[in-house]
Amino acid sequence: MMRLPGMVDVHVHLRVPGGEHKEDFRTGSAAALAGGVTTVLAMPNTHPPIVSRNDWNIAQEKAFSESLCDVFMYAGASAEHLDQLPALGEKAVALKLYMDQTYGPLRVEGLKALSDIARLWPKHKMLAVHAEGTSIAVGISLAAAYNRPVHFCHVSRKEEIELIAAAKQQGLPVTCEVTPHHLFLTSADAEHLGSLVDMRPTLAEQRDVDALWDHIETTIDCVATDHAPHTLDEKNAAQNPPPGVPGLESALPLMLTAASQGRLSYERVVDLMYTNPRKIFSLPEQPDTWIEVDPDAKYVFPDHPLYTKCGWSPFSDFPMQGKIRKVVFKGRDVVRDGEVLDYYS
Ligand code: DOR
Ligand code: ZN
Ligand code: ZN
Repeated sequence: MMRLPGMVDVHVHLRVPGGEHKEDFRTGSAAALAGGVTTVLAMPNTHPPIVSRNDWNIAQEKAFSESLCDVFMYAGASAEHLDQLPALGEKAVALKLYMDQTYGPLRVEGLKALSDIARLWPKHKMLAVHAEGTSIAVGISLAAAYNRPVHFCHVSRKEEIELIAAAKQQGLPVTCEVTPHHLFLTSADAEHLGSLVDMRPTLAEQRDVDALWDHIETTIDCVATDHAPHTLDEKNAAQNPPPGVPGLESALPLMLTAASQGRLSYERVVDLMYTNPRKIFSLPEQPDTWIEVDPDAKYVFPDHPLYTKCGWSPFSDFPMQGKIRKVVFKGRDVVRDGEVLDYYS
């Protein structure tokens, strides 16, 4: 048996407020625990989005009272709410800036708004950006010009990870995460999984996936899920199915499987899913919290009924090696063999 820390997922959509039929704090945090994750950072692209101190207070209070693991709330950047940034800067764990179009209403365009946000957001808190393609170059230039840390979410393309590697070599204050779906799926999988695996960024080519793996020991700081639950009815809709896939329950199993195959070390999995996320987002210690993993156990995912309210996974039927036997959260046993204890009582 292997004892590892409770994992940290810095990119999770828990859908409160406005999307509670997809996920809520209780179901999402149960999914986290079942996946060996004891801390999640929740995204602000809700309905309405979290762009003011008042929105943030309401959501964080709910997260605190309903969640089974630790949940820290992002605030969302909005050109119409720049006046809220100082107040949000005292509260939110980090600011999320959407530079490209994705699910939800948050998107910031134009040099004035982007520069204002990069300058106004406190430097000791992370500015996490959804940036694809050339938007990554813009994000790097904001980090360089204003000498402030910028974290790139879900990097998925060869040219993107290579540009971030070059920026890091220049000593610029940039960090990045990749998702399990961009590490384990390609656009070829979209041919049989269809709109189920439509997400932003979209799945990439094999050359991109290979490039991400080439940078797994070096440039990539974190593995984060971008857990983006939508119901199967929504995903299968003929008109405009929403982008996104759930990931909390499959992320650590996939990374343990890769470690069992020698694609990276178990120590590196811990760097990517615990040590670096905590450092980058300045997260507090969790006392008496750990997980126990059997690195030899083989099974077909999922080996437990899923806790995410959306109820499906793009990794169903994946052969896995490395089973989460137990999760201890702040001194209490909370998961045993895929079951969140006392969940239904
Ligand atoms: O696929 C995605 N889904 N990408 C995003 O950036 C947002 C997310 C969501 O909220 O559903
Ligand atoms: Zn995003
Ligand atoms: Zn996201």
